[in-house]
Amino acid sequence: MKSQQKKTKALFLHKILIMIDFNKRLLNWYHSNRRSLPWRQTIDPYRIWISEIILQQTQVKQGLNYYQRFINHFPNVEKLAKADEDEVLKLWQGLGYYSRARNLHTAAKSILKLHNGQFPNTYIEILKLKGIGPYTAAAISSFAFNLPHAVVDGNVYRFLSRLFGISIAIDSTPGKKHFHNLAQELLNQKNPASHNQAIMEMGALQCKPFSPSCIDCPFTDRCVAFSTGRVEDFPVKEKRTKQRHRYFSYFYMVENNKLVICKRQGNDIWRNLYELPLLESPKQLPVKSLKASLNTDHHTLQLIDEKKHILSHQIIHTRFYRTSTLPDSTGNKEQWMRVPIQELKQYAFPQLIVNFLNEQGLSINHE
Ligand code: ADE
Repeated sequence: MKSQQKKTKALFLHKILIMIDFNKRLLNWYHSNRRSLPWRQTIDPYRIWISEIILQQTQVKQGLNYYQRFINHFPNVEKLAKADEDEVLKLWQGLGYYSRARNLHTAAKSILKLHNGQFPNTYIEILKLKGIGPYTAAAISSFAFNLPHAVVDGNVYRFLSRLFGISIAIDSTPGKKHFHNLAQELLNQKNPASHNQAIMEMGALQCKPFSPSCIDCPFTDRCVAFSTGRVEDFPVKEKRTKQRHRYFSYFYMVENNKLVICKRQGNDIWRNLYELPLLESPKQLPVKSLKASLNTDHHTLQLIDEKKHILSHQIIHTRFYRTSTLPDSTGNKEQWMRVPIQELKQYAFPQLIVNFLNEQGLSINHE
């Protein structure tokens, strides 16, 4: 037999070996190791949806607080659909990627309008909702309706790529297809809900990104990555995300116990969140030239803080200036609002601004 054929046959046999008792090993492990989490104690698709979107933004530990606050405020689809967008964004403050919150709001409105407030109960209908992709649709339809759709999130990619020794890049089109097919093949058809929770939990707790606990893993004797000493080499990724540098000068002005803020507009990060009057420039402007370009009195502009804020595709170099008159040339002059300090808590700000304002002694955290 040619060597390529031999290799293919060996891989196939290894796959069969893994599959023989995969479900049994996985569920046994899950039953003794799973975390008790509020979204696992419900089959309400609305709550499962909210938890899944929050968990795409943050770790379970931090996500718990956001989840409880969100559910307390909006216990069902109708309450969310009828909320003010500002309120939704405020509850999302600090999680980042605010389009996820705006999409939750939009999708809730369409569930109310198109489905009479009843959460759709098929994979295809769930997938049509704004902000819901194949992963979230599989999670909701399996956890809430026990439908046989395998979830493939970062945890699943990592666990399966190591177990089977798969070197196809997880962020390539063939890679996504390969892992999706494999996960679907492994899915326990009798109990998709527990299977999906278990496979993600395996990736989150046992097959961790760094220093995974291989010694006490129920799959060690089957794991290609472990047996070849390549655990840290998986999963394989193709692309390095390119980051764009941006330069923000913010103007901090408090007058009569009121702070000047404005709402971000346009198709950009932080849309509809609040911030300070802003001047964005293609390069970092030296304080001197900023003063000159603003045509402002020397003494009214004082650099008081500098922060670098890193997002997935952008690095924002920010300078904060205390000022007693606001420069006209900030792009957002029309939206200037003078808000009493004690009312700032009601507004949703990007975390960068929250941190700055907290450091200035204006406490604007969640209540
Ligand atoms: N990450 C994504 N979904 C999750 C879930 N349902 N439980 C724990 N972690 C998760």
